[in-house]
Order: sequence, then structure tokens, then C-alpha cells
Amino acid sequence: MKGLILSGGKGTRLYPLTYTRAKQLIPVANKPVLIRVIESIRAAGIVEIGIVIGQTGPEIREAVGDGSRWGVRITYIEQPSPDGLAHAVKIAADFLGDERFVMFLGDNVIEGGISKLIADFANSGWNSQIVLKEVANPSAFGVAKLRDDGKIERLIEKPKDPPSNLALVGIYMFDANILKAVHAIKPSWRNELEITDAIQWLIDQGYTVMPHVHEGWWIDTGKPTDMLEANACVLDELKPHIDPTAVIEDSEVDRRVTVEAGARIINSIVHGPTIIGEHTVIENAYVGPYTSIYHHVQVLNCEIERCIVLEHADIRDLGARLGNSLIGRNASIKRKQRKPSTITMNLADHSSVWLV
Ligand code: G1P
Repeated sequence: MKGLILSGGKGTRLYPLTYTRAKQLIPVANKPVLIRVIESIRAAGIVEIGIVIGQTGPEIREAVGDGSRWGVRITYIEQPSPDGLAHAVKIAADFLGDERFVMFLGDNVIEGGISKLIADFANSGWNSQIVLKEVANPSAFGVAKLRDDGKIERLIEKPKDPPSNLALVGIYMFDANILKAVHAIKPSWRNELEITDAIQWLIDQGYTVMPHVHEGWWIDTGKPTDMLEANACVLDELKPHIDPTAVIEDSEVDRRVTVEAGARIINSIVHGPTIIGEHTVIENAYVGPYTSIYHHVQVLNCEIERCIVLEHADIRDLGARLGNSLIGRNASIKRKQRKPSTITMNLADHSSVWLV
């Protein structure tokens, strides 16, 4: 089998972080979501992976390279404009050949990996397998209505009036018949070739499409709250580890904390699940649960919890605890040492600040 990862899109709902970084490269628990996707495909024994890229392509190529770091071979496929998931399959036809493949959206995070699902599909005669998950807001996704016997009755993309609460997770398995489907369908109301319509075409033509209802968590990391939620879920699963080159002095660091190489924790309290990145300094600080602090960050004289902090950020001397926040690269949050005591900001476009 082959793997196909879709890694285009502008990530507008994650502005301003995604002005300067592809959304799939934002880390959760200090590892970019896209790398987590590559690793889970590799864990299923697949080494031939195509990545469909859009305008953030150069950055994705730079981060992933030829894939050898993860023991896979990467082929990049350029999608000139975001014309839909089925369009991505269409332009990947040369890469896919007539092999069975798993398609994975590069911003989806799922509990427990996909090895078992892929093995089930590889050993079956099915033409496709889709993954479904019960959600509270089905209108935001593709939705499946199942029959009493568990087979799929129909699939609808972003229905206003959803016939069920089963959303299509961004993981799909196909044989080469999907290539006929993506040529047969027409663009949707949002002018995209929808993978949901292509799968419906397979069903209508009598091909076997098997649904699998996923029991664990699944997060499509579209918005800041989703990123924080995915971060919390992954931190919960992380096996804690303290690198021998890390320095921990006069501090209380509980057993659910991961500390990476060269990090320094001085006179501080760190409660897990939490990860402290390489060469980051935590001093006179409290770091609470569900916090991921990436590499080369300074957290001095302040309190922080349930945050994702990107590399080279500098957070110090805050009067209130920082929580539920995404802090970008090289961002700086400091207490003003001089009068007048105004709140002063140098804010990027589309930033949000909540004051207490
Ligand atoms: C896409 C699919 C949708 C699916 C979702 C999962 O939506 O079209 O059917 O439920 O991914 O993440 P999009 O991200 O294009 O809005």
C-alpha cells in the first residue's frame, strides 16, 4: 500500500500563526502534526508516501525533506489551487498507480494510530474503508448515515440538517477505483471536488465501502481551541522522559513531565502532563498541566498552563497566569517595568488578546 497525505490549505482559522507557518507544521506535544501523520503511516508498514502541497509547499519540503529521517520515501505533488480532496487524489494519479492507498489529512490527530485499520483494509477485498466518529457538531464535517445493518446509506458534505452525528474522519482507504470516481463527480457548491461525493459515487456504482466507527478521540486541528485540545490529548498519551542533559535544580517536577535535551528548570514547579523543549529555560515559574513549550523558550518569573508555546518565545514577569494560549515563534510577553502603566502591544494581523 501507499500513503497520501494532504498538506495544503492556508489555515486561516489559525491566523496569525499560519501567516508564517503551515498549519500542519504547528507542533502538538512538541512534534508537528504532519510528522505525527507520517509516523503513524510508517507504523502501519507503509514507506511510499505522497504529500500534496499548496502554497506552503516550500516550507513543508524543507521540514520533511525526502522522508529518510522517518524511514519513508516522500514524493511531493503540487496542487496549484485548493480545489478539494478529490481533486488532490486526481492529481496524485501518477504517484498512486493502481495500488491501494491510505489518504490522511495532514492536520488530523487521532488516538491509537491506524495500523489495525490499514491491516484490515489491506487483507480485505473492500474497495474503500472510511472512518467515522460521533461528534457534537456534525454540520462542520462530511456526515454518514448508516443503515440498520451497519452499511452506509449515504454521505453528505457539511449538511445543514445532518442525518446523523457520525462525521467522516480525515482518514480514508481506497483501491484504484477511486480514480474513476474523482473523474466522474462535479464540483460542489463550494466549488471543490469533494471526496465525500467521490465515495458516494463508489457506493452508487455498487463498490464495497466499509465504515469503521472510531471509539477513541479524534481532532481536526482547524482552530486554536482544537490545537490546545489535541495537545492535551497527545500529552495524556505521552510516555514521560527526562533527558540526561536536562538540568533540574530546586524544583518540583512531577512524573508526568517530559524534559528534552539541554532544558533548564530552576526554582520552579512543573505539573504534567507537560513537555519542556530543548534548551528551554523555566526559572522562578509555575508550568501547569497540558502545556507544551517548544525549544529555546524562556519562561521566567511567571505562571503558565494549558498553552502551546513555539520556539524562541520569551515570557516573563507576568502579573497573571497565562492559560489556554497559543504563543508564536519569537513572541515576547513581558511586564512593563516603567510608567505609564498602559497595556502596550505590537500585535500581528488577526491576533486575539483576552484581558482580565
Ligand atoms: C474535510 C472533508 C470532510 C471531513 C473533514 C475531516 O473537510 O471534506 O468530509 O469530515 O475534512 O477533517 P474540510 O477540512 O475540507 O472542511
